[in-house]
Amino acid sequence: MTDLADLDLFTDGDPHEAWRALRRDSPVHWNPAAGDTAGGTGSSGFWALTRYQDVHDAYVDAALFSSRWGTVMGGSHRRDADSASGRMLIASDDPQHRLMRQQVHKAFLPALMDRARRVVRDYVDAALGRMLEDGGGDFATDVAPEPPAGLLAAMFGLGRTDALHLLALTRSMIGYQDPRYHSGSTPPAVLVSSQVEIFDLMMDLMETRRRAPSDDLVSILLGASVNGRPFTEDEVLYNCLNVAVGGNETTPFTASAAVQAFIDSPGQARLLRDDPGLLATAVEEVFRWTSTNAYVQRVATRDVELHGQLIRAGDAVTLWNASANRDEEKFPDADRFDVRRTPNRHIAFGVGVHRCIGMGAAQMEIGLLLREIARRGISFEAAGPPDRLRSNFMLGLTRLPVRATVSRDRS
Ligand code: HEM
Repeated sequence: MTDLADLDLFTDGDPHEAWRALRRDSPVHWNPAAGDTAGGTGSSGFWALTRYQDVHDAYVDAALFSSRWGTVMGGSHRRDADSASGRMLIASDDPQHRLMRQQVHKAFLPALMDRARRVVRDYVDAALGRMLEDGGGDFATDVAPEPPAGLLAAMFGLGRTDALHLLALTRSMIGYQDPRYHSGSTPPAVLVSSQVEIFDLMMDLMETRRRAPSDDLVSILLGASVNGRPFTEDEVLYNCLNVAVGGNETTPFTASAAVQAFIDSPGQARLLRDDPGLLATAVEEVFRWTSTNAYVQRVATRDVELHGQLIRAGDAVTLWNASANRDEEKFPDADRFDVRRTPNRHIAFGVGVHRCIGMGAAQMEIGLLLREIARRGISFEAAGPPDRLRSNFMLGLTRLPVRATVSRDRS
């Protein structure tokens, strides 16, 4: 039986096959939590919505499906509110969420994003240059971290070394169940210690910006207010964490999965290389195809029936973006990676009031990376098997050995 809590499915199995079966046979599926054999909605477990329309509609009805309990299974305790509840964008409901979002949004306005674009371009350019000189390497560690490092360097006012350090911390926080990040320790200990270290780093930054304000995210939030009262220290801290994790733990995995997709479909790589006008549709197809943020969690605020199943108030409900984005009812030839796909109304960034605030930044990062790869005429070939992150929340590669060459017509 399909078990979406079984992390082996995400490292060694085929989750797309599992989602295809759920979309067909059990669109509102009760999934016991890991290690829970009793099952039943009274015990710990979660509902899984896998069809595009159901996932879409659940996102839109934010009063029925609340974010207050946190959006990651196991990141919070379902029956208790997340510790960030009401203080962090992603773990809040309106109206508090809307008021905070207006403030955080100021860090995504053109002034800061234009600077970020320049930094990301420089980092990406340098990393691809190094990889070409070496004839290849591990794309997941040598190139993929550079776009988010550039973005976060600009947004937090950090140098590259500090931005990469922050990235390493958010990586072990999100990937804490992956043995790569908890050798010599236990997963919960890694989760706690990386969170503590990120908070310490943010506290130091807050102290520095209080003394010398700048135009970065931390300074913007220190000067922010809701309903006439200043942001509390917790609100500054949690929202900095939300942006850091949102920014770090998505685009690098998307970048590696994009390169993997182009390796698997060399014809699509050639199409993009030969026609730069395809960049915009290619970027959106990369987001649909990779659906890096596999699911988000909600909690039902009242009883509701869906496709004949009773979801009770208090039940956890997971919305599987990665499945919705391959729903054959919505996307013709859904299992085909197609850089010319249009229309492409994927929901990789969610929908409704919580739709990813960093979507424009992510489009900029992946767009710059693909443009630079196409402009230089770089071809990638597999140079060994990739490793997948041990997580059902982030779909990502932690290792992607490649050979990198410049096509003859460009060299
Ligand atoms: C491929 C890249 C990305 C993907 C797939 C992605 C995915 C998502 C999704 C699905 C949500 C909705 C969560 C929900 O409804 O519970 C979200 C929200 C969010 N994302 Fe992203 N994201 C990406 C990039 C980024 C970047 C670059 C940043 C910041 C620099 C960011 C920061 C955030 C924040 C702060 C939220 C919370 C918004 C809110 O609750 O109002 N994300 N993201």
